Formats: sequence, structure tokens, C-alpha cells
Amino acid sequence: MTTSAWAALYDRCADGYDPHVGHFAVLGRRLVDLVDPLPGERVLDVAAGRGACLFPAAERVGPAGAVHGVDLSEGMVRQLAADIAGRGTANATAARMDAQALTVAEGSYDRVLCAFALFLMPDPGSAARGFLRALRPGGRCGVSVPVEQLMPGDRAAMSDLFRSVALRAGPAAARRPDFGMNAGGLLAEAGFTGVRVVEEESAFVFADTAAWWEWTWTTGFRAFYERLPADLLEEFRERAFALLEPAVTREGLPATARTRFAVGTRPGGPGM
Ligand SMILES: C[S@@+](CC[C@H](N)C(=O)[O-])C[C@H]1O[C@@H](n2cnc3c(N)ncnc32)[C@H](O)[C@@H]1O
Repeated sequence: MTTSAWAALYDRCADGYDPHVGHFAVLGRRLVDLVDPLPGERVLDVAAGRGACLFPAAERVGPAGAVHGVDLSEGMVRQLAADIAGRGTANATAARMDAQALTVAEGSYDRVLCAFALFLMPDPGSAARGFLRALRPGGRCGVSVPVEQLMPGDRAAMSDLFRSVALRAGPAAARRPDFGMNAGGLLAEAGFTGVRVVEEESAFVFADTAAWWEWTWTTGFRAFYERLPADLLEEFRERAFALLEPAVTREGLPATARTRFAVGTRPGGPGM
């Protein structure tokens, strides 16, 4: 999908983004922990969405620091600005910007974050080089990408269902983003040093299949759904629910995700 098509898709996802289990919120906080912003620092959160990284980063840098969230989706930026105002987060702002063509001053940030977005971009290399330029020498960047997207039930059976339905809808429906992209290699190629890659599995529990379905409509899954004719979408939903119902326990519907985090440093800082 093109950059503008992704932005338009996320406009439609923005209102009820990431409901029920807070999957992006949990993993955004994890990325912030790995990048470890310090009190008083300036942080750029690229493709900030509804602030999964921005809010924990704002807590860490405190009133003497600042976090600037940028995203290409107008809907996300509007909602994020409202969230920032609603929470009274005085040290954060939101603005519209393409991650692949950042218009921020060179060396103006101590930390750059980018969670769950590089794999959507046609030119992630440009984005990574922009992250490097945005950082001061010695500044640190952290990115995350999905290796296995959040999925309940039997992952292999669900993947087969996605594949078989997509193939019936035609080649456009079968196109997928670059899951498992080499985020560490991307940072190294862009010029980051000391690149460290961590891969983690995370577990979440949806209340039921309906909650999972609602969650998927606020994520990239929606791109797949919107390419299906109405009858095939309904067939997909029914077959997915039939596969998932046996997996529901007294606690709910368990789901897992596998995420790759990569952290690197702009060379040239003190002691480097
Ligand atoms: C899966 S969401 C992740 C949002 C947030 N980082 C999080 O972890 O919840 C992907 C986000 O990337 C944004 N995005 C996609 N392509 C972009 C681009 N080229 N520049 C800026 N933002 C982009 C979308 O608008 C969306 O908000």
C-alpha cells in the first residue's frame, strides 16, 4: 500500500484505536523502557498513533523535557492532540509529518522512537536515516516491528484462513506488510552503532471473540477486511469465530504476539 493509503486507513482506525487489551500501549511502554529517556530530554515519537510511546516517554522526561509526536494520519494527530489536552500532558505535542521525510532540525533530539510503523513504509531506509539526523551525537533510537502480529487461537489455522480467503479475493487482498523486517539491519545500514535487537513474545487476553474482532478493525487487519467483498468478509468473520470459540477459557480469549525491538546510537557522542 502507498504511504497515503496507510495514512487514510489509520484515519479510519484512529477513533477507537487499540481497544480492550491495550496491545500497542503495553508494547509502546516496553520500547520506551528499552530506549530509557532521562528527565529533561527531548524525544521525537515518529508515527506516534494515539501515544503508546508518547505518554510513557512524557512521564519519564518530566516537566523539564519534551516529547513531540508526529504521524501522517490527520485522524491520529487530531485524536492524539485531544488525548494530550485531555490528560493535561503539558510537555507533549502532536503534529502531522511523514516519517520518510522528517522536517525537524538536525541533532535536535536526545531520543527517537518509532513503534509498529517502519514495516508499513515503502521507504523505511529513508525514515531510519531521518531518525539518525534528528538525533544529537550519542542520542539513542528505538524501533519496534511485529514478527508475529497479535493473534488468538491456533495461529497456523488462523493464518491458513486469512490466506485462503485473501486468495479468493484476488492479489490485492493477499498483499501483506513486511512482518519480521530486519529492523536491526535497517538501523545499522542507516549509520547507527551498537545496535541491539531484542525479540519478545507477549500474551494478552480478549474478553471474547467479539472484542478481538473489534480490536482488529483498528489495526492493519482493517486493510485486509476493506479489500473483501461483503459476502467474503462475513464468511471470514464466521469461520474465524468458529475457529476461535473453542479457544475461549473462563478468563477469555488468549492471544500472543511476537515483537522485534531494535535500539541503536548515533555515533559521535561523548566517549564514543
Ligand atoms: C500500527 S500504528 C502504530 C502507532 C503507534 N506508534 C503505536 O505503537 O500505537 C501505525 C502508525 O503509523 C502511522 N504511519 C504510517 N505510515 C507513516 C508515515 N509514512 N509517516 C508517519 N506516520 C505513518 C499510521 O498513521 C499509524 O498511526
